[in-house]
Amino acid sequence: MNLFLTLLFTFLALFALGIIFFFFFVLDVLIRRHDLPSDKKARQMIAQIISQRHPQAKNFYDLGSGRGTVILSIKKHLPHLQVIGIDLSRFRCALAKIKAKFLGRKIQVKRGDLFKQDLSQADVVYAFIWYDLLPPLEQKLQQELKPGALAITNTVHFFDWPLAEKIVFDEKLPGNFGTLFVYKK
Ligand SMILES: C[S@@+](CC[C@H](N)C(=O)[O-])C[C@H]1O[C@@H](n2cnc3c(N)ncnc32)[C@H](O)[C@@H]1O
Repeated sequence: MNLFLTLLFTFLALFALGIIFFFFFVLDVLIRRHDLPSDKKARQMIAQIISQRHPQAKNFYDLGSGRGTVILSIKKHLPHLQVIGIDLSRFRCALAKIKAKFLGRKIQVKRGDLFKQDLSQADVVYAFIWYDLLPPLEQKLQQELKPGALAITNTVHFFDWPLAEKIVFDEKLPGNFGTLFVYKK
């Protein structure tokens, strides 16, 4: 009987936790819009681009880091880099920190607006965000990034900044969903 009750309470507790998590997940998407993570092939390609185009890079910023998919992957591929993620959503930042603890990867996750982040010391910045944010981001990066810094965008691209390289990492994806755009300051 005792075992039955223990199992029942454990099940109910896990079920309640699942419902609470789902509630916050839905609420977060409603407030902050979706946070589609970057594709695995894109993440591998970003690490390759950094190794080839900026081997001296010391840090990597994901501007709008969501649940931490890209920052955790970059830390795995390039453990010597200081990896920083910035996102508006507390929920996504919390999940990224939990995942990092669980995986034992040392990354920094900051809750805040990417437009308020000082990027003057950034070596590589990455953005997979909505089109409407690209013009102000282009202006900010042009003003703040130091010479030699790299900017990489996924799917979306800048309008005036001349491209250093365009890399199609998945031809099967529609539009520019399988494309990375690389810029050099
Ligand atoms: C499409 S997700 C990309 C997540 C992650 N970078 C990846 O590639 O897997 C975009 C993220 O940008 C965040 N975001 C949008 N505007 C932002 C802003 N002004 N400051 C910080 N984060 C922002 C959203 O909350 C969302 O989690």
